[in-house]
Amino acid sequence: MTASNRIPSTLAKLALPALLLTLAACETTGDAPYAPDASMGMLIARDSCAGCHQTGLNGDSPNEDATPFHEVASRPGMTEESLAAWLRDGHNYPAEMNLRLEPHQVDSLVAYMLRLRSGQPIS
Ligand code: HEC
Repeated sequence: MTASNRIPSTLAKLALPALLLTLAACETTGDAPYAPDASMGMLIARDSCAGCHQTGLNGDSPNEDATPFHEVASRPGMTEESLAAWLRDGHNYPAEMNLRLEPHQVDSLVAYMLRLRSGQPIS
């Protein structure tokens, strides 16, 4: 039977628009898909951090031991470098933070977290 390694036509119909969307998304980010991006950082924060940390502009964290991101960001002396260095080195993490971040994820998270200082929502 040769049909078994062909994509069923219904699946192909679904996959093509998805592929076109993916290509369109790549075009808008240009040649640097890993450029630090605060909007991407917001998505990562909501996906991977919001279970414990408050990731928005204000409010308390769901886990009271996890500092709200707006507080981390506005801590005196907090810089892009110091926050990125902390996040890059998983050894700093408390046991609860059982996750691993890629360098471009760190950079986008830092861009997002430091944007919280502006008090402006990110779209
Ligand atoms: C399962 C819960 C949990 C998740 C998920 C989590 N954290 Fe945490 N995080 C904590 C706790 C608890 C602390 C505080 C540890 C301490 O003070 O000893 C912390 C501390 C931190 C700190 C240091 C805060 C400070 O006060 O200096 C940063 C920065 C941080 N987390 C970032 C993140 C990021 C970014 C993510 C998502 C990629 C994340 N965390 C996901 C629980 C979590």
